[in-house]
Formats: sequence, C-alpha cells, structure tokens
Amino acid sequence: MRSKIVVANWKMNKDLHEGLQLAARVIQMLGNRANRSAQVILLPPFIHLDAIRKLLPKSGSLHVGAQDCHVHAYGAFTGEVSAPMLRSVGATFVLIGHSERRQHLGEHSALLTQKVTTALLHGLRPIFCCGESQQVRTAGHQESFVQKQLAAGLFHLSAGQIAQVIIAYEPIWAIGTGSTPIPTQVQAMHYAIRSTIASRYGEEVSQNIPILYGGSCNAENALCFFVCPDVDGGLIGKASLEAVSFVSIVDALE
Ligand code: 13P
Repeated sequence: MRSKIVVANWKMNKDLHEGLQLAARVIQMLGNRANRSAQVILLPPFIHLDAIRKLLPKSGSLHVGAQDCHVHAYGAFTGEVSAPMLRSVGATFVLIGHSERRQHLGEHSALLTQKVTTALLHGLRPIFCCGESQQVRTAGHQESFVQKQLAAGLFHLSAGQIAQVIIAYEPIWAIGTGSTPIPTQVQAMHYAIRSTIASRYGEEVSQNIPILYGGSCNAENALCFFVCPDVDGGLIGKASLEAVSFVSIVDALE
C-alpha cells in the first residue's frame, strides 16, 4: 500500500523562534492522535533544521527535510547547502524542482536531473515537483507538459531509485492564488503521472509511488482532493504556517 504523506513547505517564512514554536505545536497536536497513518514531513528553512529535528520523537511518522539542496556534495559554492550537510542535521527528504526555483532561480531540467541523483546518493528522498502554467493549461497541453518534466527529471533513475521518490503535482497557477483545479482535474493529472511512471518502470513501481497535490490546498478543500484515488497526500504552503490548519489537513488525509 502507498504511503499517505503531508508535507509542510514553509518557504522563506518564520524566524528560528517562530519556527520552533510552530514545529512544537504541530508535534504536540499530532502526538495526541493514536494510530496515525500519515507521514508528516516539515520543510523549514535550512537554519531551523537541526533544532527542529531535535524536537521530533525518535521514531515515528514525523520527519524533517529541506526545500532544496545543491547539485554538488561539497566545494567552492558560496552560500549553498549540500545534501550531505542536510543529512548530517537529520534531514531525510528534499524538495527538488519547486516551480518558484524553476521560475525565479532559473533551475532547468538538466540541473534538476542531477540534483535528484545527488540527493539519492547522499540518503535524501527527493520530493520532485512538477506542474504547468496557466498558459499551458489553457492550451490543454498540461499532461504532455508534466510528462516531459517527469521524463527529464526522473527517467534516468533505476527502478530501485525511483521507488525512493515522491512526486508532487503543483499547477503553478494554483500556488498561493486561492484558485485550484477541480478534483476531477487533479485526479486526471495524477492518473496521467502514474501512467507515465508505469510506461517507464512498470505497473508495480508506479502503484507504489506517492503522488501529492499542492497549490492552495487548505483545511477546507483538502479532503476533496484526498479522496481521489491517485492522490496520496498534499504539499502545503500557506496553510502549513499555522498549526491548527496544517493539522486539520493531516486529519483530512487520515
Ligand atoms: P500554497 O499552499 O501557499 O499555494 O503553496 C503551495 C506550494 O507551493 C507548496 O510547495
């Protein structure tokens, strides 16, 4: 059975004090629930990782990860943070290919392909983001667009490696805008993503890959996405910045 996963992408929000408070509250609220089935991954800014990881229960379904990592493991890359550094502070996941980095920082497919490899090599599970612009959706080309992103970013991996990957579908036009695709559109895209993985790696591999939805997903609308058969959870931005709304989203998945 596929894992159910909710990821909190805090983006560039919360200073250390605020971040620790938010993480402590989320941990406390989730800790009070017995028989949790969803994995919860917090992606705070780099500088919070070590302190937040120390707040987590030693074992269980709560994890920390990073919002990015550098393509190289070490070297003269001023200001950058590498996958082995992230592992050394207890991160076990890393977001790769978020549209904000593709758009504003010029991250292109060839770079993302290498980042995925670097992350896996150093023990980080990639959460690989894909998703189309409004223009691409209006033209009706969203599925072929996303299929190309997946092929470019992931198809160099072995079957064993891709089994470590989580895919997040985030239509760019839904991120931070309050508008979302309707659930049937989300399901259609997630089905297309799973079929794309199946065409390269076979049915069994594709059935085991978690595919998350992201883009204005919140406590009010999460359930209508999570009931779709190919939606295995969410990648949450704004609604992850407040404990009650974030935990409500986790509840909707369980
Ligand atoms: P919002 O939930 O704020 O739309 O952000 C989604 C996102 O980009 C998560 O990575």
